[in-house]
Amino acid sequence: MCSLRIVWNKVRFREQWAVGKIRTKKTAKEKEGHRPGETLRELISHARIRAKVAEMAREIRRDFPDDTLHLIGVLKGSIFFLADLARELGGEVSFDFLGVSSYGKGTDSTGEVKLTKDLDVGIEGRTVLIVEDILDTGLTLKYLLKLFEERKPKHLRVAVLLDKVERRIADVKADYTGFPIPNEFVVGYGLDFDERYRNLPDVCVLQLGSRGKTKNE
Ligand code: IMP
Ligand code: MG
Repeated sequence: MCSLRIVWNKVRFREQWAVGKIRTKKTAKEKEGHRPGETLRELISHARIRAKVAEMAREIRRDFPDDTLHLIGVLKGSIFFLADLARELGGEVSFDFLGVSSYGKGTDSTGEVKLTKDLDVGIEGRTVLIVEDILDTGLTLKYLLKLFEERKPKHLRVAVLLDKVERRIADVKADYTGFPIPNEFVVGYGLDFDERYRNLPDVCVLQLGSRGKTKNE
């Protein structure tokens, strides 16, 4: 009788599984997001990010051993990257921030880039490093390079943590790149979705809904 019940339970389980009533537990690297239907899948761990940032800093310092590096962080996504990079660089470093808007509240670029906060100090004659969280269409970077070149820095270089190579529209590339990533919407380590998730230590893919649809789909 007991073994019959076990068999029956197994059959019921298989049926329910087939119609999707039973879901697997989230894998260790997948967790619930902040709101219902939002799931996070770890893409790059904090440890890997820190190791990569240190490697990038060594490379940058090797290229400019004696210069004061003037880091320009693009608000707000670059703040953790800039803070970690600055501490790994050694030597003289100064920084400034600027604000641009390109995305509004959604996830797809409007294609329009606007300056929302300009730099506090001039960059003429300085060794400037633009610090960006992610290179996507490249429209923001194209705009910034044009803007800054007109201000006559001694050197102008670009460091990005993440690069969605597939999404590029503008013909730009970074001088220093952390991780090329696939075309998926990512959050964490400064990157947001509607101002949320910036404080995650890892970079995670944000998936919406039960079918694991990503924001870029
Ligand atoms: P671009 O002008 O299309 O290259 O966009 C650059 C900006 O868009 C980045 O600095 C981010 O603020 C934002 N962005 C692009 N892709 C993502 C993403 O996957 N997650 C969060 N923000 C993103
Ligand atoms: Mg940004």
